[in-house]
Amino acid sequence: MRPLTKLISKTASLAAVALFSLNLSAAPIEIKFSHVVADNTPKGKMAKKFKTLVEERLPGKVEVKVFPNSQLFGDNKVLEAMLLGDVQLAAPSLSKFQKYTKSLQVFDLPFLFEDMNAVEKFQNGPEGQKLLSSLEKKGLVGLGYLHNGMKQLSSSQPLKVPADAKGLKFRIMTSDVLAAQFEAIKANPVKKPFSEVFTLLQTRAIDGQENSWSNIYSKKFFEVQDYITESNHGVLDYLVVTSKEFWMTLPDDIRPVVKQSLAEAISYGNKIAGDKALSDKQAIIDSGRSKVLSLTDAERKQWVNAMKPVWKEFEGEIGKDIIKAAEQSNQ
Ligand code: SIN
Repeated sequence: MRPLTKLISKTASLAAVALFSLNLSAAPIEIKFSHVVADNTPKGKMAKKFKTLVEERLPGKVEVKVFPNSQLFGDNKVLEAMLLGDVQLAAPSLSKFQKYTKSLQVFDLPFLFEDMNAVEKFQNGPEGQKLLSSLEKKGLVGLGYLHNGMKQLSSSQPLKVPADAKGLKFRIMTSDVLAAQFEAIKANPVKKPFSEVFTLLQTRAIDGQENSWSNIYSKKFFEVQDYITESNHGVLDYLVVTSKEFWMTLPDDIRPVVKQSLAEAISYGNKIAGDKALSDKQAIIDSGRSKVLSLTDAERKQWVNAMKPVWKEFEGEIGKDIIKAAEQSNQ
């Protein structure tokens, strides 16, 4: 879309919100929720839950359109589109915000969180809550954290120790921390959108990738990767986000209902994420298409030792206090 056309379309959608608040138009406020994963994932289910709740509570006043599987925007474009008013809600992975804030990079540090309980404790604590507003200067509002789960490493080769990954190409999200993590084990990170991962793996243009059980299962990566190492080396979680402009122009009697419905949908998504990870992992094992490898304590220690220096590298950008608070959430 050309800049002038974009401006006209953005002005029209803001005008619709304004007209609604003056009661001059019966047209419902449209909320487009764009995401990149399948419907049958914690994020896909959360988005559908939000639609059900908000349309039940505000019949004829708000209409939610959910676009899964990168149908509307890929994660690398969605935030730009949001600032232009082309989409109102998204939940990109926390690894995709580095252009807007450096502090959220804490979630990408390898082996920082021992499990999802620690992630949740940090997100609900004072430092985690402060990070929700770290995008405000850029015109974005963080509305809540949504879980997917811990990341695993998939590859065309068995990965038991870091040396096994040397020289292999791994697809990563657009995060310099993730790039440094793979460089630390002498592998080659390749930043690519989520929608391209399956084909890249299938054609062997890359050797591996890191993702949650739910994404590896729902996007069928396990069908084109021979091995998955249960490394739990990092976290894949989301920030539910909107634009400040859209949020502030919502009528005062609508915004709290949207906010409450989102909070309930997020809490539903967070509740099902743990079970989804377990059942999707089991489905992968049962398929026999990919061999799931576990690490001994000694092998795991080698990965930790190789990747942990990345913390120091990004301490200045992220903030020592934030990293410390995240580390303490393991206790
Ligand atoms: C997502 O879960 O939203 C995508 C994760 C990825 O890009 O690997």
